[in-house]
Amino acid sequence: MSARNKIWRVGVAGLGTVGGGLLSFLAERPGFAPAGGEVVVTGVSARSRSRPRAVDISAYSWFDDPVALARSEEIDIFVELVGGSDGPAKAAVEAALAAGKPVVTANKALIAEHGAELAVLAESKGVPLLFEAAVMGGVPAVKIVREALVGDDIKSIAGILNGTCNYILTEMDQGGRAFADVLAEAQRLGYAEADPTMDVGGFDAAHKISILAALAFGCAPNYAAAEIEGIDQVDLLDIGLARDLGYRIKLVASADRSADGVLVRVHPSLAPLSHPLAQAGGALNALFIEGERIGRIYVQGPGAGAGPTAAAVAADIADVMTGAMRPVFQAPAGELAPFTPVDPAKSFGRAYLRLMVKDEPGVIAAVSETLAEAGVSIESFLQKPVENASGVPIVLTTHAVAESVLTAAIDRIAGLPAVLERPRLLRIARI
Ligand SMILES: NC(=O)c1ccc[n+]([C@@H]2O[C@H](COP(=O)([O-])OP(=O)(O)OC[C@H]3O[C@@H](n4cnc5c(N)ncnc54)[C@H](OP(=O)(O)O)[C@@H]3O)[C@@H](O)[C@H]2O)c1
Repeated sequence: MSARNKIWRVGVAGLGTVGGGLLSFLAERPGFAPAGGEVVVTGVSARSRSRPRAVDISAYSWFDDPVALARSEEIDIFVELVGGSDGPAKAAVEAALAAGKPVVTANKALIAEHGAELAVLAESKGVPLLFEAAVMGGVPAVKIVREALVGDDIKSIAGILNGTCNYILTEMDQGGRAFADVLAEAQRLGYAEADPTMDVGGFDAAHKISILAALAFGCAPNYAAAEIEGIDQVDLLDIGLARDLGYRIKLVASADRSADGVLVRVHPSLAPLSHPLAQAGGALNALFIEGERIGRIYVQGPGAGAGPTAAAVAADIADVMTGAMRPVFQAPAGELAPFTPVDPAKSFGRAYLRLMVKDEPGVIAAVSETLAEAGVSIESFLQKPVENASGVPIVLTTHAVAESVLTAAIDRIAGLPAVLERPRLLRIARI
């Protein structure tokens, strides 16, 4: 039977938000045949067989163990939507690849942390390992970087890759509410996980930017090398002061290539209010990609949710059906360039510093002198009226400076008698 009229039997492990969304989509589109052949779900696996599901699964073979589904003779494509970097998701993906079955997954943790070894296995078996839904949900970021821009040399990628953080920061900004309040509400509404660490700690965004960096720069993912700071320490005071200076605070994930190597970072960062990243509010995701020849590309859209994410999974299934094969990353797995991490201390950029100082004369002069002596040049200065008896916030932005120089300057400022606490550093996004 040719690929055009073949029936592709799909096994789906994980029937939660994304898995349920995929089954709903396939139920609404019986005979989904994007590449000529037809997609038919034959087997499913989840933790609990008896859990009520939005979609009727009685017609599918049930597997208690996703690994058994992955190996089953009943399926041609294995779709992993369980989640987690290790455990059953990894075991099942390995089992499917080892059995020579194409794998589609939405699992960024798995790809960011084990992508290199899984790519070796997939390519040794000559089967695709696809993960469009792992980055930016419904926005085809992986395809853009891996396929559409393969004729260019990407220099940098920067964007908002975690919808939960973007939602929380947007609510803090618009509603003037503290981080803990907004997080609690987001958890009540189901926008944030009961354990929000992966999202608010910046780790989820770091998984995604590590994958994009690998695809963009032709290296294996190196999540361990990512520099990660989440939004849990973002203070309402800084959101207001940043706005007074013409910026909005966003959790920006970035990957930059230079002669020294690759720098992958996730930080709360300031974006100018008029910039598209500052304007991407709520749960939206947004991404800038800069290439040597094409210049800059900007995409924005839903980074999560059952419908958008399932659409990306379905697109990967369609790709498997076309029979097209390319390396999992940008080069054959055995030939991927080593990922050389750049020391963040050597990176250059503009910064925002917020100090709490005693309300007494000479403080601004002392801070300015200390910065000048340390080699940091001030771009703008803002002093707010007294907000409480214990201190006055002053905020300044710097011209581009090496991070090591900036950190040394902060250490010195923190030691000034009039400075009440260690200055808060936020980077101004290079976008
Ligand atoms: N949610 C999104 O919008 C989104 C967007 C992009 C990517 N992703 C990724 O997609 C994947 C799935 O996310 P999700 O939000 O759909 O997760 P979810 O709603 O928590 O669903 C997880 C599913 O996995 C099943 N499962 C858990 N442990 C299992 C085990 N040991 N054996 C078999 N099945 C097991 C669960 O079974 P029960 O139903 O029986 O509990 C559930 O059906 C993750 O990698 C996630 O990062 C999600």
